[in-house]
Amino acid sequence: MLKTIVLIGMMGSGKTSVGKELAKKLNLSFIDIDQEIERKYNKTVIEIFLKKGEPFFRKAEENISCKLINGKPSVISLGGGGYLNKKIRNKIKLYGISIWVNTNLENIYHRINKSKNKRPLLDYKNLKKTLKKIYDERKPIYKKADFVIKSNSDSKKETVKKIIEIL
Ligand code: S3P
Repeated sequence: MLKTIVLIGMMGSGKTSVGKELAKKLNLSFIDIDQEIERKYNKTVIEIFLKKGEPFFRKAEENISCKLINGKPSVISLGGGGYLNKKIRNKIKLYGISIWVNTNLENIYHRINKSKNKRPLLDYKNLKKTLKKIYDERKPIYKKADFVIKSNSDSKKETVKKIIEIL
């Protein structure tokens, strides 16, 4: 039986677009944790970081993620930092399946560069360097995921196909 499928990985790795397509294919609902946080506080992620600070955002991320990762079959896209939180990781271990959408840095860089969605943690003047630093720091944690899907030059549909094969 399917559990809650949680897509994890770097910002700009395509978790949301892959997640939407995967949910459609599996006929499940799709939840984006960042969007849930934005809806709850009626503010964008960047506004929350600026007005309330990162610790507030991380707590909201923890609460909302832990509530929604409950075993109910659905596809969840977790914000890039969500999987670093041990409580969230434990919830996934109990009630879900984690899939690291591992996109290479070059592709992440291009996606982020053309995205209108500005990420508060990034120094856009040194984007490549900042992304590499965050990726290197987080890689050992992302590696703990149940499955790793390389999603480099693949189209979204190819990545979804690879995920469905391993489920
Ligand atoms: C973050 C990633 C973002 C968002 C916030 C922090 C991170 O989500 O949660 O800007 O720490 O990597 P996406 O991975 O959806 O961009």
